[in-house]
Amino acid sequence: MTTSSASGKIILFGEHAVVYGRPALAVPVTQVHADVDVSDSVRAGVWIDAPDVNLHAELNTLPSDHPIASVINNLFFLWRVSPFPNLEIKISSTIPVASGLGSGAAVTVALTRALASHLGHSMDDEEVNAFTYEIEKLHHGTPSGIDNTVVTYAKPIYFIKSPPSPARRGAGGEVETFQVGKPFTIVIADTGIPAPTKESVADVRKLWESDKRRWENVFDEIRDISFAARHVIKEGWIKMLGALMDENHSLLQKMTVSSPALDRLVEVARSAGALGAKLSGGGRGGNMIALVDPETAEAVSFALKEAGAKNIIITQVS
Ligand code: MEV
Repeated sequence: MTTSSASGKIILFGEHAVVYGRPALAVPVTQVHADVDVSDSVRAGVWIDAPDVNLHAELNTLPSDHPIASVINNLFFLWRVSPFPNLEIKISSTIPVASGLGSGAAVTVALTRALASHLGHSMDDEEVNAFTYEIEKLHHGTPSGIDNTVVTYAKPIYFIKSPPSPARRGAGGEVETFQVGKPFTIVIADTGIPAPTKESVADVRKLWESDKRRWENVFDEIRDISFAARHVIKEGWIKMLGALMDENHSLLQKMTVSSPALDRLVEVARSAGALGAKLSGGGRGGNMIALVDPETAEAVSFALKEAGAKNIIITQVS
């Protein structure tokens, strides 16, 4: 049996503006992950068992645009696998779907690595990243590439979208890691409302098309926040980071990607002592993040739970 695992992620700063070439910062969240086991099967076919999404099926019975089938079929096509081997593929994930924590990218990365290793195809991180980006494009419209990048490399990234480059084996994006001068604590709270990123990204595109000058200015404001955040994180000026989060959230509200549930959790976190808070990811639902002193993490988490958060994760960025 061959196994592989990939962590979830959060975007700290710059979501949506990153689709328009502005920088964004993202970090892995190791508390949640997608796990894939691949083993040889005694029965004919490629059998997929993904109990979290109630999927128990043979590959050929799935529509070709099914997210999991499209990963397997495209990999077998790339590797010229014929005939298909008999396999059992077990997929499980603790990353909630459509919540801004990168569940789709994590399943693709873990499945790709498990299949590559089981079938003896070597794939380095660049190739896994480029392939995962292609799969993200199939299902998410016009992604920037930040989700697949942070999930593949599993380290803090400062990401700027750029065209696919041969030097990066077809992956796009300028990718740098960022330095963390002083570790900081983030509380992640789930509204419990699933919200596909594809829809909020498409809505922001409509806004942008309706008034490019206005929205380019907003994206520039977010660029300046991401730029400042990278510096502030490097210097360990944690209080200033909170103010930048608040500013970023206001601009996301302007872009219509927040929601009453997200705004409420953001307010509750601030009132309970968070240094700053914002939505994270595509918005409309999914998760928000709050920057906290380690001593207030429990109080902020408790207040968020009381306010209706469906799940809380406390994570440290270091
Ligand atoms: C989703 O995690 C982040 C967005 O900026 C979309 C993207 O970058 O592809 C909303």
